[in-house]
Amino acid sequence: MWTGYKILIFSYLTTEIWMEKQYLSQREVDLEAYFTRNHTVLQGTRFKRAIFQGQYCRNFGCCEDRDDGCVTEFYAANALCYCDKFCDRENSDCCPDYKSFCREEKEWPPHTQPWYPEGCFKDGQHYEEGSVIKENCNSCTCSGQQWKCSQHVCLVRSELIEQVNKGDYGWTAQNYSQFWGMTLEDGFKFRLGTLPPSPMLLSMNEMTASLPATTDLPEFFVASYKWPGWTHGPLDQKNCAASWAFSTASVAADRIAIQSKGRYTANLSPQNLISCCAKNRHGCNSGSIDRAWWYLRKRGLVSHACYPLFKDQNATNNGCAMASRSDGRGKRHATKPCPNNVEKSNRIYQCSPPYRVSSNETEIMKEIMQNGPVQAIMQVREDFFHYKTGIYRHVTSTNKESEKYRKLQTHAVKLTGWGTLRGAQGQKEKFWIAANSWGKSWGENGYFRILRGVNESDIEKLIIAAWGQLTSSDEP
Ligand SMILES: *[C@@H]1O[C@H](CO)[C@@H](O)[C@H](O)[C@H]1NC(C)=O
Ligand SMILES: *[C@@H]1O[C@H](CO)[C@@H](O)[C@H](O)[C@H]1NC(C)=O
Ligand SMILES: *[C@@H]1O[C@H](CO)[C@@H](O)[C@H](O)[C@H]1NC(C)=O
Ligand SMILES: *[C@@H]1O[C@H](CO)[C@@H](O)[C@H](O)[C@H]1NC(C)=O
Ligand SMILES: *[C@@H]1O[C@H](CO)[C@@H](O)[C@H](O)[C@H]1NC(C)=O
Repeated sequence: MWTGYKILIFSYLTTEIWMEKQYLSQREVDLEAYFTRNHTVLQGTRFKRAIFQGQYCRNFGCCEDRDDGCVTEFYAANALCYCDKFCDRENSDCCPDYKSFCREEKEWPPHTQPWYPEGCFKDGQHYEEGSVIKENCNSCTCSGQQWKCSQHVCLVRSELIEQVNKGDYGWTAQNYSQFWGMTLEDGFKFRLGTLPPSPMLLSMNEMTASLPATTDLPEFFVASYKWPGWTHGPLDQKNCAASWAFSTASVAADRIAIQSKGRYTANLSPQNLISCCAKNRHGCNSGSIDRAWWYLRKRGLVSHACYPLFKDQNATNNGCAMASRSDGRGKRHATKPCPNNVEKSNRIYQCSPPYRVSSNETEIMKEIMQNGPVQAIMQVREDFFHYKTGIYRHVTSTNKESEKYRKLQTHAVKLTGWGTLRGAQGQKEKFWIAANSWGKSWGENGYFRILRGVNESDIEKLIIAAWGQLTSSDEP
């Protein structure tokens, strides 16, 4: 009985081999040479697959450790095959050309390559010759049965996300769909937008809050708890490099509300600044915060409701739709109705000249607690875009080629409070709470926490604030 089975199995195998030989001879592949080159490929299920010298690895190109993403349909076997270093140990589900491509590529003459008549494969799907697909920030064209991809560095990098999330850095990273598909270059070009502070700004005298030095500062402080309804949450600058305008308008709005004791609680319009602050003419193309504060002092802004953000920041008709004139008694009035005609109030809000707050942590805390949120100029690096939750500190990429993945640029945000947390090792970790301008889906509801007291990402280097210009008639 057992012998009978053996004969059956044997004859089955011989038929299989014979059929494969027939098949291959039709395709003019030198089976003989392949067999003598390495006999180990003759073992078990490997045999059947090994004789198909397909395009898998050539097209998908991954020969690293087990990579579940690097899988493709193996047509002949109606199965999935992998193309990665795991195949060194476990061969049953490896792409047929794993060895030839990843281990012995040079020995293969180019004429053995064509197997599929035309086109390329990706995730088990066939694409015509000349097809273009997008892979994150790169586009790949199927040409000569291979995907040829552009080599941009992408803003979202899974290795970096993984590195942050596996490490003990105090924060976690996420893949944001709004950044997926952008190059690193474009991320820095479109999502930040504050010019490095001018020497004039940096040489400003530092003011210290008038609170006595001995004031007890709480462990935890959030501006929106102390002044509910008077402070303003993060907006989304989208692909408009204008953090210079978003942070300035937001700090000014909070401070006018606090100073007027809730009489004027409108958020101020960053679009008004972007479109009308003429010296920053390329509003979505970065600007300086000195000019923003100058504009708030000299011209004033209407509310965000009156002059909302344009849907398409790249629209060419992005001209200034608001003007103000002086009434001769130190107040300015709008000369045009609101661009958003549903909003009737086109009141102009103005500020005092800005002042610099000391970089001393305690001084910054006193200033926020006494007068409201402040503007902070920070240096943003590539990992910051991935921030999801926790206390941010810069994580240096461990990638060997990390130079090309690194970038650094100035950004402006709003500090709204602080706190203390016990770290994983039980140590005390102090943080600032800051509002970014990347919408509420980013970070902690649009906010982030960042290490406090160690000048992380230069967050304490330049702190700016201003007073609202309220006349006696404005006083509540
Ligand atoms: C065949 O491949 C195995 C595993 O890749 C290798 O260890 C062996 O040296 C190869 N033999 C020949 C003759 O190339
Ligand atoms: C990241 O998100 C995008 C869009 O939401 C998605 O298409 C992509 O597969 C994700 N990438 C990773 C590595 O998770
Ligand atoms: C905006 O327009 C410029 C020039 O026309 C272009 O280079 C850029 O990619 C556009 N940005 C977006 C986000 O569409
Ligand atoms: C910061 O200012 C406080 C007083 O407000 C002072 O006690 C402290 O030493 C200063 N810290 C530094 C680093 O200068
Ligand atoms: C913060 O760091 C920057 C750059 O390292 C430095 O220029 C600046 O003086 C530092 N500021 C403080 C307050 O330590």
